Amino acid sequence: MTEFTGNHILSVNQFDREAIGKIFETANTMQPYAQRKKQTRVLDGAILGNMFFEASTRTRVSFGSAFNLLGGSVRETTGMSSSALAKGESLFDTARVLSSYADVIAMRHPQSGSVAEFSQGSMVPVINGGDGSNEHPTQALLDLYTIEKELSSNLQTIDNMHIAMVGDLKYGRTVHSLSKLLAAYKNITFSLISPKELAMPDEVISIIENAGHKVIISQDLEGNADADILYLTRIQEERFENAQEANKYRGQFRLNQQIYTKHCKSNTVIMHPLPRDSRMEANELDTDLNLNPNLAIFRQVENGVLIRMALFALTLGVEDKVKQHECEVTWFSRK
Ligand code: NCD
Repeated sequence: MTEFTGNHILSVNQFDREAIGKIFETANTMQPYAQRKKQTRVLDGAILGNMFFEASTRTRVSFGSAFNLLGGSVRETTGMSSSALAKGESLFDTARVLSSYADVIAMRHPQSGSVAEFSQGSMVPVINGGDGSNEHPTQALLDLYTIEKELSSNLQTIDNMHIAMVGDLKYGRTVHSLSKLLAAYKNITFSLISPKELAMPDEVISIIENAGHKVIISQDLEGNADADILYLTRIQEERFENAQEANKYRGQFRLNQQIYTKHCKSNTVIMHPLPRDSRMEANELDTDLNLNPNLAIFRQVENGVLIRMALFALTLGVEDKVKQHECEVTWFSRK
């Protein structure tokens, strides 16, 4: 069984189905606090170092909110230029320093492998919030949690499902982590739909094939849109050598209500890690889908808070004490 307390979360490779089950079970118990039915002070006095050296809205704020919802406080740095890394400090030294100010660190950085390198200098657990195009384990866990919930309301399971992943599968770290995590399940069909130049890395394809799953490689969204889960992604323009090159691929795969009605099943679940690129030339996920009940993107966002609360509780060893530190919510809450 995976030991969570005191350990880093760097890659989805750390988790087998038992560990995933433990995370999901803990996430379920976080519902009343995320919905402001109750509050808990279980992490009163604890400090999260939220270290984001690359652009982020959701991941950064939801890590912070998740920690606050458990009663802890958050210290944050955003951007490379405002940190000492810009003065030539090593990741090891930065980690050694920041870890003396915090009990746990969430970290994002544009270089693959950087968060693992950082963790070697840290005296406290480090959670990977995305390292370049490599991995984004907490996003993969929240995506998987969402997939399980959405499918179970359609009386389906992750085992035996068909998932289509669409867009920039080369640089998209969310699809790398999600594919590796799904490898732990049984008999999944993966339709991998991307421009040829932005295909899923061979290393990831080997992992899913070696685990016995079926892989279909395609450049055609409409012909593969009838999957159980349709997971779209953004062209990761920040990972291209020049922006012009990214422009070539923008808008190649678009989903809107008309395409959905024509090519998807009536219960195909639409997912996206967000941000969706809503500029006209991209418009990968049209806002005319906003009223489609199978659009799960904002449920993914809500599930992200539950998963990150669960990971903090497990990493800091308080998952069984959350209720004991419960108190009433005193303010007006719409949730
Ligand atoms: C993703 C990321 O940063 O990898 N965003 C997120 O964390 N929800 C996807 C993206 O930026 O396209």
